[in-house]
Amino acid sequence: MSAPRGVRIWDLPTRLFHWGLVILIGLAWWSISTRQLSLHRTVGALTAGLVVFRLWWGLFGGSTARFSDFLRGPGTVLAYARSLVSKAVGPKDLSAGHNPMGGWSVVLLIGLTGTIVALGLFAVDTDGLESGPLASLVDYDTGRLASHWHGLAFDLLKGLVGLHLVAIAFYTVFKRENLVRSMIDGKKPLDDPRASLQPARIWALAVGLLLGGGVAWLLIRMAG
Ligand code: HEM
Repeated sequence: MSAPRGVRIWDLPTRLFHWGLVILIGLAWWSISTRQLSLHRTVGALTAGLVVFRLWWGLFGGSTARFSDFLRGPGTVLAYARSLVSKAVGPKDLSAGHNPMGGWSVVLLIGLTGTIVALGLFAVDTDGLESGPLASLVDYDTGRLASHWHGLAFDLLKGLVGLHLVAIAFYTVFKRENLVRSMIDGKKPLDDPRASLQPARIWALAVGLLLGGGVAWLLIRMAG
């Protein structure tokens, strides 16, 4: 008999954040490869808004989106890593939110994305004609350095995303966990309904949307 697919573990804002981020990172890559700098700046501003929203959601969002729910100490992470290679973890041991290893990769992905956006704000092109919305606050050399690190950090992000996808494929093939489906419909086949997500308060969503939307709006105006 197949396990029930009833327990809700990801709230809608977290799922929209994730797939929004995937689309925006793809667009950022495409727009810079085709030298569409104006679109690239808009995408950067929207990404900044998403990251700000996710940071807020990590503090006041639904239970499984909170950093306190999935950031664990090195002992727990190591024990989890060991259990992964043994047969101890199987479909019956599905956990509600991010596992102890995944939790740190989430922080790295969000932190690196935020760093890339922040560097992009100050970045200056070789001829000094194309620049991020805050580039006027720094001199040309600093702007060039920001641009250099902006590119390097993006290369690092590509590597991390590659690892992210390998990890998800690992869970799908070896652990028979369909994490992608969970990130789409928000549910996991857990037996225990108590593992279900505790939703956030509506005021927390409203403030998060205002903060994220406000940052994106401001940066789009400054870039325009
Ligand atoms: C630009 C590419 C991507 C980035 C930057 C990215 C980033 C992230 C982040 C930050 C999270 C944590 C979500 C949260 O708690 O807010 C996450 C989780 C997740 N991502 Fe991605 N992701 C990318 C692409 C993908 C793709 C293409 C897939 C599907 C094939 C995918 C599947 C997942 C799944 C299933 C989870 C939940 C993992 C778990 O159960 O703990 N991601 N991703």
